[in-house]
Amino acid sequence: MLTVEDFNSHWGSLTPRQRISHLCQVERVTFSTSFGLEDQYLSYLIADSTIDIDIFTLDTGRIFSETYQLWRQTEDEYGIKIRGYYPERHDLQDYEEQYGINGFYGSVEGRQACCKIRKIIPLLNAIQGYDYWISGLRRAQSDNRKDLPFAEYDASNDIIKLYPLADVSDAALERVIATHQIPVNPLHEKGYASIGCAPCTRAIKKGEHPRAGRWWWEQGAQECGLHFVRGKMVRSKDFA
Ligand code: ADX
Ligand code: SF4
Repeated sequence: MLTVEDFNSHWGSLTPRQRISHLCQVERVTFSTSFGLEDQYLSYLIADSTIDIDIFTLDTGRIFSETYQLWRQTEDEYGIKIRGYYPERHDLQDYEEQYGINGFYGSVEGRQACCKIRKIIPLLNAIQGYDYWISGLRRAQSDNRKDLPFAEYDASNDIIKLYPLADVSDAALERVIATHQIPVNPLHEKGYASIGCAPCTRAIKKGEHPRAGRWWWEQGAQECGLHFVRGKMVRSKDFA
């Protein structure tokens, strides 16, 4: 068993590929992909390694058809299985009755309730039984993420979260994607920078922040709660 400190003291001197290889020392590792650029790079690294890492996606039912196509293409090209996790039918029915089918536009509460039933609750099932959860977050993505470590303990879910790309820059990410011809979402070419659910993602304009297209109608939202615990980003020092 490797600890949060083991990763944080060791990974800074390793490449992302070496970080994935380092995971040969542990078991019960899972990786969550939303098929963004970072996740596509991680899927490539995992498929190209001999490390046993399960891969899942949270299929909210509201993602773009381009994302479904990329899901299939990634499985085919890399010979991997990406397991989908789904919302509960009764949660969807209750939500639709209470907030309406597009209730996320009506209030912050309606938006958070939708993310809760379509992402957060399915996530709890997806990470059940695992000790380590890999995610594609990077420091360069936003101010909220600028202090991201390589690893942190998520006390609510009793799991160690790992960010093998934490220190990778935008330019470095673009370079590896081009070099390895990694398949990416065609929506990026149409101005979509960070891609989530279809009704909650728009293309950004020149000069806008890459995450400005996420939940654009909410002032300063830009996080769905997947990486939040008790209303803030989890840091290992919070639980020291
Ligand atoms: S979000 O919190 O704003 O939605 P973002 O889109 O930046 O997150 O993605 C960050 C990381 O969260 C991804 O690299 C991935 O690990 C995880 N993630 C986000 N959305 C999903 C999803 N629908 N399914 C699985 N993992 C996801
Ligand atoms: Fe619902 Fe939008 Fe959250 Fe997707 S991103 S779960 S559609 S509120």
